[in-house]
Amino acid sequence: MFLRPKGVPVPLIDESDMVPYPDGALNRDHRELIATVNRFYSCLCRAVADDGDATPARVQIGQLERQCAIHFRREEGYLQRLGYPQLTQHRIAHRRFEGLVHQFKVALTGNTAPADILRLVEENLSVLLIQHINEADQAAALFAAGLPAPPDP
Ligand SMILES: [Fe+2]
Ligand SMILES: [Fe+2]
Repeated sequence: MFLRPKGVPVPLIDESDMVPYPDGALNRDHRELIATVNRFYSCLCRAVADDGDATPARVQIGQLERQCAIHFRREEGYLQRLGYPQLTQHRIAHRRFEGLVHQFKVALTGNTAPADILRLVEENLSVLLIQHINEADQAAALFAAGLPAPPDP
């Protein structure tokens, strides 16, 4: 099951619809990132429902931060070697995502109520990740595969 921002039907990311990168490590990273975001989301929902322990959510956001650091560098290095023309914008999107993950990590170690964090996650994190993987990463994968970019919506 995929993370679902309000008002958007599931499934949000169906890998069968996506052109994979020719590099298997990047595709594996994506699957692991999505799985960690979903685990983080479940832990946060549980913390809100039990009015309680945010420790499991803290563990998952720490894991997500580490995975992002590894994947984004790997992907940027790969796209740089390919001479990807949109690399600068892609890097900016990665830094934005990392900033958001860090913001959630800080909120979870402070006094912010899990319910408030959950609201922010639903409004921001899921949308950003889904957009990035479905759109920006998909455009990069098409370039890497030598296929034409999709037309602008
Ligand atoms: Fe990316
Ligand atoms: Fe990616």
